[in-house]
Amino acid sequence: MGEQGGDPLKERLQVLGEALRQQVRQLLQESGDQVLDQIRVRQVLGGMRGVRALVCVTSSLDPETGVRYRGIPVAEVSARLPRPSAEDEAYVEGLFWLLLTGSIPTEEEVNWLRRTLSERSHVPYQVYEVLDRLPAETHPMAAFSMGILAMRRESVMREALQKGVSKDKLWEYAYEDALNLLAKIPYIAAHIYRRFYRDGKYIDPDPSLDWGANFAHMLGNDDPAFYNLMRLYLILHADHGGGNVSVHAARLVGSAWSDPYLAYSAGMNGLAGPLHGLANQQVVQFILEMQKALGSMLPTREQIAEYVRDMLKKGRVIPGFGHAVLRKTDPRFLAQKAFAEKHCPDDEFVQVVWRLYEIVPPILQATGKVKNPWPNVDLHSGALLRHYGIVEYTFYTVFFGVARALGILAQLVWDRLLGLPIERPVAVPLQDLFTLLAEEAQPSEESRQVV
Ligand SMILES: CC(C)(COP(=O)(O)OP(=O)(O)OC[C@H]1O[C@@H](n2cnc3c(N)ncnc32)[C@H](O)[C@@H]1OP(=O)(O)O)[C@@H](O)C(=O)NCCC(=O)NCCS
Repeated sequence: MGEQGGDPLKERLQVLGEALRQQVRQLLQESGDQVLDQIRVRQVLGGMRGVRALVCVTSSLDPETGVRYRGIPVAEVSARLPRPSAEDEAYVEGLFWLLLTGSIPTEEEVNWLRRTLSERSHVPYQVYEVLDRLPAETHPMAAFSMGILAMRRESVMREALQKGVSKDKLWEYAYEDALNLLAKIPYIAAHIYRRFYRDGKYIDPDPSLDWGANFAHMLGNDDPAFYNLMRLYLILHADHGGGNVSVHAARLVGSAWSDPYLAYSAGMNGLAGPLHGLANQQVVQFILEMQKALGSMLPTREQIAEYVRDMLKKGRVIPGFGHAVLRKTDPRFLAQKAFAEKHCPDDEFVQVVWRLYEIVPPILQATGKVKNPWPNVDLHSGALLRHYGIVEYTFYTVFFGVARALGILAQLVWDRLLGLPIERPVAVPLQDLFTLLAEEAQPSEESRQVV
């Protein structure tokens, strides 16, 4: 465990955490019975859409303007954080500092974080052994989740709980686990990539590089533009409020004081779902199938429109479009589009994505049921990765998972800092719901007499 005096981030969190915890206690005392929301039957049966039943310290999601990290719109955050040069994307370490503390870090603070992550990055060889023994057809997200779990014996929170630890101190162990995990996650991801797609030819890390660039380096591409893509990608995908499947799954598991290894791995299992993070792999698969079916690498607008309508008729979901909360084009899609316009506007695959952006929304709108016909973050990411030689789309959700570690781990630390309790909503027995609503629909004896 890092020494208290030698860790400026932990010291800052200690102060911030005490202050916010006090405020939360006071809020509970003074306003604990105030009504915030009333829940409708539609929400009970509809995945709890729109129910405000959780809090989140690190980020928020607005249906019109998208995600904000500590109040800063996602598309602006990179420009506000320390970076290698004015032309480069920001250091990802800076975003983690921002998510945790709410302040833009200094260059010195970012350097400190990079150093501490580098010092914590050793992955025990047994973890690599677990990954190396998996059958070749294992999906990379399953391997990723197993890799995280295989590291769990390193958890200092697990050890502290075993020995007995004061509840108030728990966050410190969660914090140490969060930093240790964050340091090692790119190594696990890069190992999976090289093991499954590059004949097990691994690349040594370069400790002189920042967290995002070193990940790009270990994957096997040292193009400075790819370093920047990785920094941008990791920042854009880092956090998305507290209610999305991956973050919520992790926080739910964490609320039982399961350590960050267990909780983050649970989040990754949620991210691996086609309606969530797997959509980035499915977008590329969808485009490849379309190119094949239409016999063209860059089908015409009319061809694409007909193909999409046909898919919808077959009951297929068009990946990369729609959102449970957003009601506008995802700013994270637009940020990636801007990157592509600068670095690879002539790439045919990128152009197919841009055509889909033009053609699909009115078609989805015409169905009359899709609440948000606009593109989400997943529509663009695969085309950019392909441009830089990462063509193995079954790996794409792992990129998302590496990025999401930033938000999940920061939120897990705050959950323990605030001392939030175990989550335990009530599930209404379905039959009781039918009975209850049938009773309410019947006019009472008294009201019948009045009529
Ligand atoms: C993201 C998503 C899961 C949100 O789900 P949601 O909140 O239930 O969305 P809606 O309320 O708009 O869904 C209403 C209807 O439109 C459909 N719909 C939504 N997005 C659609 C899409 N991209 N293609 C086809 N149909 C879609 C839903 O399946 C649902 O159909 P149903 O009433 O027959 O069950 C959904 O838009 C989707 O499946 N998108 C494609 C997958 C994707 O890109 N996921 C990544 C999200 S970041």
